Parts: sequence; C-alpha cells; structure tokens
Amino acid sequence: MNAILVTGGAGFIGSNFIRLVISETDLSVINLDALTYAGNLENLKDLESNPRYRFVQGRIEDSALVEGLMKEVDACVHFAAESHVDRSIKDAQPFLITNCLGTQTLLDAARSTGLKRFLHVSTDEVYGSLGGDDHPFRETDPLLPNSPYAASKASSDLLVRAAYKTHGLPVIITRCSNNYGPYQFPEKLIPLMTINAMEGRPLPIYGDGKNIRDWIYVEDHCRGLLKVLESGAVGEIYNLGGECEKTNLEIVEAILERLDAPRSLITFVKDRPGHDRRYAMDISKVKEELGWTPKVDFEEGISTTIEWYKANRDWWERILSGEYMRYYEEHYGGLS
Ligand code: NAD
Ligand code: TYD
Repeated sequence: MNAILVTGGAGFIGSNFIRLVISETDLSVINLDALTYAGNLENLKDLESNPRYRFVQGRIEDSALVEGLMKEVDACVHFAAESHVDRSIKDAQPFLITNCLGTQTLLDAARSTGLKRFLHVSTDEVYGSLGGDDHPFRETDPLLPNSPYAASKASSDLLVRAAYKTHGLPVIITRCSNNYGPYQFPEKLIPLMTINAMEGRPLPIYGDGKNIRDWIYVEDHCRGLLKVLESGAVGEIYNLGGECEKTNLEIVEAILERLDAPRSLITFVKDRPGHDRRYAMDISKVKEELGWTPKVDFEEGISTTIEWYKANRDWWERILSGEYMRYYEEHYGGLS
C-alpha cells in the first residue's frame, strides 16, 4: 500500500488519524472533506506543506470526484459523516445524504476503480442501548439503532456489507465507542463541558446524568484503525473501544476537578429523546486476532485533553464565535 484516500479528514478523528499515518508510516494521504460546520483545516495546519499530504475540498456524494481520487490510491478510510446525535434529532436529512448516499457513492467508485481495501469507520451506536446487566456489544449482536444518526450509520454498515456480499468488494468495518481528545468539535460532551467549565458557564447534563458511555482516547482509536487497515481480514467487523465505562456525571466531575471549577455549574436539563442508556464494547476479537488494545487510560487521556483545550483557546473561540453559538442558542435557549 502506497497511498490512501481519507474521507472526512478535516474532522475530529480523521485529522488525528491523518497525523498518525503521516508520522508513523510511509503512506501518502489524500484528504477529501466537504468542510461542513465540523470540518476545519486548522486541524491539519501542521501538515499543509507536507509532500505526502494533499487536501481536496468536495463531497463524498460527488461520484466523478471520488472516482478520480480513488484511481490514485490503494485504499480508502471512510470517516466522513454527519456525526452528532442531537443534530440528527432536529433534522435527519443531512445524515441520510452523507452517511447513506455518500457511503454508497464511495462503494460504487471503489468497485469501478478496483480499490484494494475499503475501511468503513462506524460506531457502537448501531447496536442500540444496553441494560446495566447486559454483556458489552459483540460484533455478532443485532443492529438496533435508536437515533436517526445511529440508524444512518447502521444503514451505511449494511450497504458496506452488501457491497462485500454482492460484489466481493474488499471491505472491513470497524465500530468504535465514544472518542475524546484534541480537535473534538465542542458540541460533544467532553469538549463542551471542558469549555463551559473554563468559562464558568452552566454544564447541561441531559436527564439524570447516569447514561453510560465507553470512552476511548482518540489516538488509541486511530492506532486501532491503522492496525485494522494493515492486517484486518476482508469482510470482517472489528469492535474497538476503551474498556472504560463511565456515567456522564462521572465525566463532568472529572473535568470540574481538573479545572478546579465548582459543582454548582452542573445543570440538569431535559433529557435527549430516545437517549441510549448504556454503550460498552467487547473488544476481545480485535485483541486476539490483531493484537490491538487501548493504551491510554482515562486519567491520562482526560488530563491531556483538558490541557489541550486550555492551550488552544484560539481554536475553539473561533468556532464558538460562529456556527456553534447559533446552534447552542437554538437548542438550549442561550447560555444564561
Ligand atoms: P466530525 O463530525 O468531527 O467530522 C466529520 C468530517 O466529515 C468533517 O470534517 C466534515 O466536514 C466531513 N464531512 C461531512 N459530510 C461530508 C460529505 N458529505 N462529504 C465529505 N466530507 C464530509 O466526526 P468525527 O467525530 O471525527 O467522526 C468521524 C467518523 O467516526 C464518523 O463516521 C463517525 O460516525 C465515526 N465515529 C465517531 C465516534 C466519536 O466518538 N466521535 C465514535 C465512533 C465512530
Ligand atoms: P455525545 O458527546 O453527544 O455523544 P453520543 O451521543 O454520540 O454518545 O454525548 C455523550 C453523552 O453525553 C450522551 O449520553 C449525551 C450526554 N450529553 C449531555 O448530557 N449533555 C450535553 O450537552 C451533551 C452534548 C451530551
């Protein structure tokens, strides 16, 4: 493998992945990204003049564009997506266009260009929600998505599966748990709470705050993706996760403690409709077959993340001054 196409590489996980690939492999990377509200070229500023990196602005639903780009590469790592559950509750349409139609467009282009490997980056949310005593999700569990976001990702997983079964396309699917780390857009739990706590603003916790997520540091996820890209078996699904279940309240408390901010900032707000109670991943398959395990424990990962948001105020202030603030106003009726 010499060159890869990364879709959605200007977003949170994609930008961390590209940085890892450039620093730890000899691969060249083409980054195709539409630069939606979540895409930000600042995330990869340090790579702008690297001869092994090229950015192309465009949408994954543009078949002529993606076909042309796929002719230049051996593999595609597909991150591009509408990724935020709350937005999908408000308007599911963009999720279907990018996550479903966009994925099918990439699969069609991969087939017509004879691409050697297509790695589809998916999520634990496709499995639905766990009860407290349920075993963590396994790759063989049924897909029971509950939010429009999760349903659109589950649909894309099935389109990828169908391309493998019907056309023999060399696909692999990974499903990962909740990521956190540098460059995460501040609509997601950890960056939102970190920034609000730094600014002395209320921390809006949905419902009772006891919903559980399995948290993984983004670099661990990216290392897992690289491992699967290099040695995963075609047609397989691999769960990735942090083996780190925490309630949302535990996450917020960890942030408050590190920022020395008062608990009184915690504000319980109306629950998210259809709010999944618990996610947790069984990652024994990827451990046993590919030898990957997450390395960064939560204490280290959350401290590094908070330090990054402290040191990169310019990055998030630029975001907050525009689109995100309008979104926040619409959803939570302002900050007061
Ligand atoms: P993100 O929202 O930060 O980034 C998405 C990127 O895709 C942005 O740069 C955006 O501009 C680009 N994009 C959106 N629509 C596009 C289109 N039609 N054409 C081209 N580019 C487009 O998302 P993220 O958190 O980095 O997630 C990346 C992928 O990983 C997604 O597929 C998501 O479902 C999956 N995932 C995320 C998590 C998580 O915790 N964030 C966990 C598991 C899986
Ligand atoms: P989020 O970061 O949106 O990821 P996902 O919904 O994909 O898991 O949310 C993580 C958890 O935090 C989820 O249970 C919803 C909750 N949450 C809040 O309580 N308040 C918030 O403002 C946000 C954004 C999320």
